[in-house]
Amino acid sequence: TTPTQDDLKRVAAYHAVDLVQSGMVLGLGTGSTAVHALDRIGDLIRRGTLRDIVGIPTSTKTEAHARAVGIPLSDLDVHPVVDLSIDGADEVDPHLNLIKGRGGSLLREKMIEGASKRFVVIVDETKMVNLLGGSGMAVPVEVIPFCSKFTMSNLRRLFSGIPGFHLRLRTTPGDEMTPAVTDNLNHVIDLFFEDGITSDLDAVSDAILKIVGVVEHGMFLGMATSVIVAGKDGGVTEIN
Ligand code: A5P
Repeated sequence: TTPTQDDLKRVAAYHAVDLVQSGMVLGLGTGSTAVHALDRIGDLIRRGTLRDIVGIPTSTKTEAHARAVGIPLSDLDVHPVVDLSIDGADEVDPHLNLIKGRGGSLLREKMIEGASKRFVVIVDETKMVNLLGGSGMAVPVEVIPFCSKFTMSNLRRLFSGIPGFHLRLRTTPGDEMTPAVTDNLNHVIDLFFEDGITSDLDAVSDAILKIVGVVEHGMFLGMATSVIVAGKDGGVTEIN
C-alpha cells in the first residue's frame, strides 16, 4: 500500500527523534508533523530510553500534547539555550529557508528555534519548493490587534507593485467575521505571493518588520540546520 501523507510526516519525525539524546533541552514544534515527534519522544521517555529530557513547547497546543505524553516542560526564561528543536514547516526552499505559521504559532516557534544550537525541520516531500510562497502558502504576519486594518494597509502598500500579491486578515475557522487570535493574543495577516517571492528574502523580511504594529513574520531565514524530507517512494533525505 502507498503511504499516506501522514505516514510520511511520521517517518520524517521519527528520523529527527533519532537525534535526541538523554539530558537534552528540546524545542518542541507545533503542527501535524511535529505531533509525531512529541508522541515518539513521549514513548522513549516512558520506556526509559530517554532520560532527563526538558521540552520547551512552541504553542499552548504543543504544551498540552507534550504534557499528555509525559514530556517534562520548561521555558526559555529558565532554559535560554536549546540543544535541538524539531518542527514542521509549510514550505522549504533549496537554501533551507522556510515559511512557517499556518498553525499561527510562528512567534514562539521563532523565539525557541532561534535559541537552538540545532534546528531540524521535518517535512514530507510536498513541502519542498523552488521559491518561498510558490506553492500558494501564505507568509503569515503576526500583528498587534490594535487597528490591524491600518497595519494591513501598510503591508498592502509595501507590496503593491508585485503582480499576483494579495493579503487578508486570518479569521477563525467557520466564522469569517472574527479574527483568528494567536497564543500571544495577536492577529495574523496572511501575505500571498502567487509567483513566489522573487526579491531578496532578507530585504522582504526587514521591510515587513519595520512596519510598526508588526510583531513577527513566518519566514525563517537561515535558521534551519537541516531538513529531513520523507518521500512517497519510502526514502528519507537529510539536507544540510
Ligand atoms: C505552526 O504554526 C506551523 O509553523 C507548523 O509548524 C507548520 O504549519 C507545519 O505544520 P504541519 O506539520 O501541520 O504541516
